[in-house]
Amino acid sequence: MADVRHLDEEFYRPADLFFPSQAGTALTYDDVTLATLHSNILPRDTSLETRLTDRLHLSLPIISADMDTVTESPMAIAIAQNGGLGLIHYNMPERQQLSEVSRVKNSVHGLIQEPIKVEPDRFIGDVLALIEERRFSFRTFPVVDGEGKLLGLLPGHTVRPRYASRKVSEAMTPREQLHTIREKELAGDAIARADRFFTEHLGIHKLPVVDDEDRLRGLFTVSDVERITQERRSLVKPARDENFRLLCGAAVSATRNSTGELDRERIVQHVGELLERGVDVVAVSTAHGYSSGVGETVRLIRETFPDLPIIAGNVTSGAGVEFLAECGADVIKIGQGPGSICTTRTVAGVGIPQLTALYVASKAAARAGVRIVADGGISKSGDIVKALTLADAVICGGLLAGCPEAPGQIMEINGKLYKQYRGMGSLAAMKAGSAARYGHESKDSVRKIAAEGVEALKEVSSSLDVVLAQLAGGIQSGMGYLGAVNLSELKSRARYVRVTPAGQRESGTHDIVEVKTGS
Ligand code: XMP
Repeated sequence: MADVRHLDEEFYRPADLFFPSQAGTALTYDDVTLATLHSNILPRDTSLETRLTDRLHLSLPIISADMDTVTESPMAIAIAQNGGLGLIHYNMPERQQLSEVSRVKNSVHGLIQEPIKVEPDRFIGDVLALIEERRFSFRTFPVVDGEGKLLGLLPGHTVRPRYASRKVSEAMTPREQLHTIREKELAGDAIARADRFFTEHLGIHKLPVVDDEDRLRGLFTVSDVERITQERRSLVKPARDENFRLLCGAAVSATRNSTGELDRERIVQHVGELLERGVDVVAVSTAHGYSSGVGETVRLIRETFPDLPIIAGNVTSGAGVEFLAECGADVIKIGQGPGSICTTRTVAGVGIPQLTALYVASKAAARAGVRIVADGGISKSGDIVKALTLADAVICGGLLAGCPEAPGQIMEINGKLYKQYRGMGSLAAMKAGSAARYGHESKDSVRKIAAEGVEALKEVSSSLDVVLAQLAGGIQSGMGYLGAVNLSELKSRARYVRVTPAGQRESGTHDIVEVKTGS
């Protein structure tokens, strides 16, 4: 028995033996495979939970890329509902990015603690303008006086352009006709209490919460309460903050002013406004994170907002990880050139294949006490399993860009449906604002130095729920094969071996005429 074990150990090696033995050669996902181990774990019993910082817990270790064809509020909402995290891209005016974050943070609440209120002497036209400006998806508003006392509820069916010149006070349901609940009645399970109220009060969809002085303290809506009640019964655990709001991240760039210096004031102001909207984490996203501008930006944000989790990148070296960690980043993005739309390796001749980069980064991260995420190059769930043997989460762009939740129109070409997917270093994306990410100015991009990404199409895929369920199922299968009940065991139990080109051919389907794909 001992000899057989020895044989396994010689051929299938843990990370600290395997990767150093390959030093000088850069490996990526398809270059290795994982050996199976004895298991008494069923895939469905495995946990995919990951902790990126003390305040940032995900129940699915998947983050949607901060790219303008991947993550805006619909993607961020849908991925957080599945336990992951969306990073809203920055190729849009700063005000719009703030609205996108608001949409995620306001999407489903248990108790809405800061409901958007209106005053009685405003016009319905003002309310319509507010909805338009802040892109609210709801139209019912509590009405309060200057001291915050509840005066009524403006019902959604009165918020119409035809009533634009009417005052809110004319259209609202007055206080005496409203059902409300006292804040102190909510001790214990507030959601269960609200759920009972809605069952007992036929046709009532909103429940304002008031204090002893009748000041508005919050609002329940029947749809949120129903969703949360359902969620409690389901297996998928959405990623939420301590106020039960969905988690949301936003990318920020190392913005420079007209003299080429870091625009410290603008960065601080924007991050401050993101925080006011409830953002949970900012990602300082650039192609070259081991650089002065990125370090200075991370340091600035860390000094100004000491408790805000910061993701920063991208790097592929131990020194790069150490540098960003010293500047104050909590989570470091690893990946230079692996992305499906990237041309950095072709254009600039730099970048490291992912698994080697992840191993080197993971050693530096452990020393610095930070987490790492594997960014780019993931094309199947098996890649995620391999990435998670070294990283704490993965960032996916192309895998999610075909989902209906990704931004962009669906187009039909020869009877097939596609969506646009483009690199943030492509000419079109840099013109739209992402030039700073690649160290250029937007005005440069016309006579452009060299694009580092392409514009492409992705076939339209199933909804994000279905895509993520497939990916999560694949990761759990991998964990079952390794006998790992959680992601920390996946790391410690991983045993690697290199695969030759013939082995890679063997790994895919072969020598058949495929009539139906596995997905
Ligand atoms: P996937 O493979 O998931 O990669 O489509 C998404 C990641 O690729 C990075 N990215 C780029 N890298 N040129 C690059 O070199 C680009 O134009 C580009 N756009 C995105 C980014 O890290 C993203 O998360």
